[in-house]
Amino acid sequence: MDKILVTGGLGFIGSHTVVELQNEGYEVVIIDDLSNSSIKVLDGITAITGKKPIFEKLDLKDKAGVEAFFKMHNDIKGVIHFAASKAVGESVQEPLLYYENNIGTLVYILKELKKLPSAAFIFSSSCTVYGQADELPITENAPVKQAESPYGNTKQIGEEIIRDTCKVVPSLNAIALRYFNPVGAHESVEIGELPIGVPQNLVPFITQTAIGLRQELSVFGDDYPTPDGTCIRDYIHVVDLAKAHVVALGRLLSGKNKERYETFNLGTGKGSSVLEVVQAFERVSGKKLNYKIVGRREGDIISAYADTTKANEELGWKTELTLDDAMLSAWKWEQKVRSES
Ligand SMILES: NC(=O)c1ccc[n+]([C@@H]2O[C@H](COP(=O)([O-])OP(=O)(O)OC[C@H]3O[C@@H](n4cnc5c(N)ncnc54)[C@H](O)[C@@H]3O)[C@@H](O)[C@H]2O)c1
Repeated sequence: MDKILVTGGLGFIGSHTVVELQNEGYEVVIIDDLSNSSIKVLDGITAITGKKPIFEKLDLKDKAGVEAFFKMHNDIKGVIHFAASKAVGESVQEPLLYYENNIGTLVYILKELKKLPSAAFIFSSSCTVYGQADELPITENAPVKQAESPYGNTKQIGEEIIRDTCKVVPSLNAIALRYFNPVGAHESVEIGELPIGVPQNLVPFITQTAIGLRQELSVFGDDYPTPDGTCIRDYIHVVDLAKAHVVALGRLLSGKNKERYETFNLGTGKGSSVLEVVQAFERVSGKKLNYKIVGRREGDIISAYADTTKANEELGWKTELTLDDAMLSAWKWEQKVRSES
């Protein structure tokens, strides 16, 4: 089976994708520098799949290290590139760190892929490229808006770099996957989301509050023009998201792609408000969550959810899991993590 490099493969989405790749029989090599993950994730992946992926601890900012890696693994057929820094607020404070880690590393990898006889490349992009879209649900044709943060900008620039490279490197085929809001954990609770410090995302904040690590959840604004006044997002179970990567990779490796560079939205197609997510958590956990409504947070968009037609029809992929499934798995994962710490 083909050998696939997964960068950032010990991270949240990467680890779940490695599991699905191994389940499909791919040989996986992970590169991660452990800057936002733990080596223990490797054991979690091994426990689920019965197979330990090859692991190289490498900082992808090390250009010579990247070159040496590809010299050693010159039989790589595809790369799924998750490795990146992802904290929006930090990116405003440290833009150069974000441009170096998210753009520099991408360029180094593409330079190596250019040398291979053929290569499939999957890029972790984000619905953040659409900003507050004028029309909902959001299709892939919605205009890319001026980025709200250096992090968002790295996704836009990253997509442009890949598109421009595909135009002139015939051996390279690529797909940018624009994720909506990944949540949940693997049902085995061997792997899940492991935020370092205060969680930036809603679901780990909810589970950490419920377990007593945080005092309360702040809901930023209930006066938005939405049915219950809170912001709406499209929460996708990380296992569904991981499976989409395997489908997208298969599309490229079997030459079924229609263009050399393609983009797909990955979401459920259904928007859920912050309060609906809280209610889903309370429903599946049987616990009341301590939360309070506070003022709006600067930069939050009101509503974003995906039009999934292209992913459903072109990729042949659909989500199978619900928000309740995601909340239950996230809750079980939180309980497991805390019982071990
Ligand atoms: N989680 C989300 O909400 C979300 C939404 C849209 C897009 N994305 C994108 O998806 C990708 C994966 O996100 P995630 O949530 O799994 O993040 P994560 O932080 O859990 O995983 C990223 C992994 O990459 C590693 N890494 C970072 N810089 C590296 C470097 N220079 N060299 C080697 N390894 C490095 C980290 O140690 C980590 O294990 C990122 O590109 C992110 O921007 C995430």
